[in-house]
Parts: sequence; structure tokens; C-alpha cells
Amino acid sequence: MPEPIYDLRSFLSVLEAHGELVHITRQVSLKHELANVAATLERRQAAAPLFECIEGFPEQRIFSSAVATQKRSALALGCAPEQVNAVMAHALEPANGIPPRRVARAAWQDHVITGEAIDLYSLPIPHHALHDGGAFITGGVTVSNDPEDRARGNLGYNRFQVLGRRTLGMNINEWRDVGRFFSKKERLGEALPCAIAIGLDPALMIAAGVKYPDDELKIAGAIRGQPIEVARGLTVDIDIPAHAEWVIEGYIPANVRRGEGPLAEFHGYYGEVWQSPIFEVTAICRREGAIWQTIIPGWSEHIYIGNVLPREPMLFKAVKHIAPTVKAVHIPPHANGFMVVVQLEKTNPGQPRNAAMAVFGAHLNPRVCVVVDPDINIYDPADVTWALVNRVDWSQDIFIVPQAQNHQMDPACDARGVGAKLGVDATYKRERREYGERVSYPPVDLSRYLS
Ligand SMILES: Cc1cc2nc3c(=O)[nH]c(=O)nc-3n(C[C@H](O)[C@H](O)[C@H](O)COP(=O)(O)O)c2cc1C
Repeated sequence: MPEPIYDLRSFLSVLEAHGELVHITRQVSLKHELANVAATLERRQAAAPLFECIEGFPEQRIFSSAVATQKRSALALGCAPEQVNAVMAHALEPANGIPPRRVARAAWQDHVITGEAIDLYSLPIPHHALHDGGAFITGGVTVSNDPEDRARGNLGYNRFQVLGRRTLGMNINEWRDVGRFFSKKERLGEALPCAIAIGLDPALMIAAGVKYPDDELKIAGAIRGQPIEVARGLTVDIDIPAHAEWVIEGYIPANVRRGEGPLAEFHGYYGEVWQSPIFEVTAICRREGAIWQTIIPGWSEHIYIGNVLPREPMLFKAVKHIAPTVKAVHIPPHANGFMVVVQLEKTNPGQPRNAAMAVFGAHLNPRVCVVVDPDINIYDPADVTWALVNRVDWSQDIFIVPQAQNHQMDPACDARGVGAKLGVDATYKRERREYGERVSYPPVDLSRYLS
């Protein structure tokens, strides 16, 4: 029986048991060093770091990179790596959503600070990339309610920059649900209460990255197969995940904007300074021995949560409609969500192109789609590169859709996201030239040979 995950600590135990957690006991600085270590580990697909000695914050521990690889996504979802798509597809189906259950007491009520004693500078908030505008909360999940329909809750991500002892800059794209909720209040000249939950069951982290027509707590419930426990905020009338390590409560005042940013963006460049709403803190709450959690901005986990996990099931469904023999679809995190790899058991020479067109038709972001055979490991960039080099005749196996619409921030496109999309049929064309079997060396358990 896999150990049940219901909070960050139970997830850390699962990671530890699978060799996916590394304790960093050497002292690190919050200013860049911590992020540099975590980013290096993510790039190598190595274990997730728990930093246990933070310069200037002797009491604090920080965890990073929870869902930064396919293996850890699978551990978070309680399935095998090749089942991640199917588990997410089930959880994202609104009919499968499981509503949360309110409990009387939350773990984060152990220690509560309100009023004048609130000081954001006492929190272990990292300054991540070199040219970020300051210290940012990047791994916090924003919890809010629709002011016109209190039953409609919402989870999402917003970057929060520390601007003062009690003030955070809060980046909100206007089409976000929390942005819509805030607009409704701002029109009335009123503030929107919110909470930031930090240090969570990864089901909640994954759910918060999804664009969903209902409360994302239901997605997390569907992942766990039971209701997520929530507790009422102490200074805000909001249900907040009860097993969070930290909770920051507060409100977004109407008609206030301040500069925040830049921050490393999902596309791998820096974003810009935005004139954004602010978040005034009314309470800082934490569990005994609370663990802070961060997401390295512009790096693998950011893409896994924002692009890979919420989007792969939808792309798979679209491809399956036109090419029923599709085996799997992957959005490699190192390509920022702009590339898709489709694994297909080809039954017709034209089918790979149709599969790529289905991907392009299903979502704006994919600008490159590579279709490979089932013998290619789509989670291994080296294997995909092998197919690109050895199975593609560039004069006949690619197609370009010029002047298509892509993501507005796609660095390869113009400012409105207009640019070419590229489909690549990287499947083996046996009719062109016959080769025998592909060379392969079965992987071994190296611990048996290296000591
Ligand atoms: C790590 C991370 C950081 C994000 N930061 C922001 C942000 O600063 N501002 C924003 O508007 N959206 C941000 N997003 C995107 C959304 O919050 C998010 O993907 C979510 O699905 C919003 O969905 P909703 O509109 O259904 O609440 C971020 C996403 C991730 C994964």
C-alpha cells in the first residue's frame, strides 16, 4: 500500500522512501544561492532539496522543486510515471470533482501573528534569479472566493513581491479567476479578502495550476479520492487547506497599484515590472516547525505545474480523436510549454501530420510538435533528439504553418504571438530504407555494480 499523502510532510516521507529527497545541511543564502542549488538539481532531474540551514534564518527550512520531474509528478499523484496523463485526465473531469470538507482546527493555527507584530521580512522568502526585482513568494497558492457566489472558491498562483513589513505586490493577469473576483469588489470600491497557503500536499499545488470552471479544491479531492480538509481563516472568511505549513491572510485593497517585478518568467526570459494590486497582510500563521516551500521561477516545476500536467490530458484527447493509436503525449518542461512530443503507433503515412495538426488545433501554446514511434522514450530529450536526427528527412518530413497565433509572450513570435508553427514527422519510414533492430542496452540497477 502506498503511504497516503495529505500534506507536505507526508509527501516528503514518500519522496524520502523513493530516494527523491535530498537534505541540504550546508548553509545557503536566500539571495540566489538557494535557487541556484535547486535549479541545478532540477536541470539534472535529481532529488528535490530540503534546505535545512538558511543564512540569517536559523529556525527555518525551505523545500523546493516538489513537482519538477515526471517521476515526482507520479509520486505526487500516487501512480506510475506512464499513468500521469490518465490520472490527471480523471481529476480534471468536472464530474469527478470532490468538494472539500471543513474541519474546526487547522495545523497552521499553531502560531498566529496579527496586527503590528506582522513582519514579512522575518519570513524566509528567497530572492531567486539574478535579475529578479526582489524577494518573491512563488510557491504560494492563492485562495479566494467569488464575492457574488460565496460557495465558489478558487485556487491559483500569483507571484507576491515583498514591498514592506505588511505589504506584498500581487501580480494578477486580468483573466484569472482571482482577477475577476477582485474586479467585482473594486467596482464597488471594496477590498477582496484572500489567503496564501504555502507548504502543501502536491495535489493542491497541481490543482492550483489548472484553469478550471469550478473550485480547484475539487480537483485536489479527485486526485486524493477524498475531500480536502479546509478550515476557516482567522481574519478572512475563506476556507483554507487545513494542512498547509504556512498561511498568510490579508486583502487586496481597491484602487491601489504599485510596481512589482521583474521575475524570471515561464518562457525563460525575465518579465517586466508591472503596476499591480497589492496584498495587505492581516495574519501570518504557521504550523509548529513549519516548512516554507518555493517554486524556482522560469524553471522545470513552474512549467510542470503551469503547462505540463494541466495540458497533456487535453492534447492527448485531441490527438486520440484523429489518431486512435496514439500512445502518449508529453510537453517537455525544458521547452517552456511551446513544444509537444506525440508517441504514435503509426497506421498511415499521413497520420503523424494529422496528429501534429490536432495538437496545434487544441491549444495556442504549442509551436513545435514532434511525432515519434513507440520505441522512443518521449520523456528523454536524448531519445527524441535521436529520432529527430535519424528519422527525419528535412526536405519532406516537416510542415510549417506560417503566421499562426501562439502565446503572446512566446519569445520567437511577434508581440501578438503571431509566428510559424512547425510539425515534424520523426517516425521511421520503413518504405524509404530498411534497417534492422535499433541498438539498445537494457538499463541495470547501478547500485549493484558501483560501491
Ligand atoms: C508557478 C506559477 C506562477 C504563476 N504566477 C502567476 C502570476 O504571477 N500572475 C498570474 O496572473 N498568473 C500566474 N500563474 C498562472 C495562474 O495562476 C494559474 O496557472 C492558474 O491556473 C490560474 O487559474 P484560475 O484563473 O482558474 O484561478 C502562475 C502559475 C504558476 C504555475
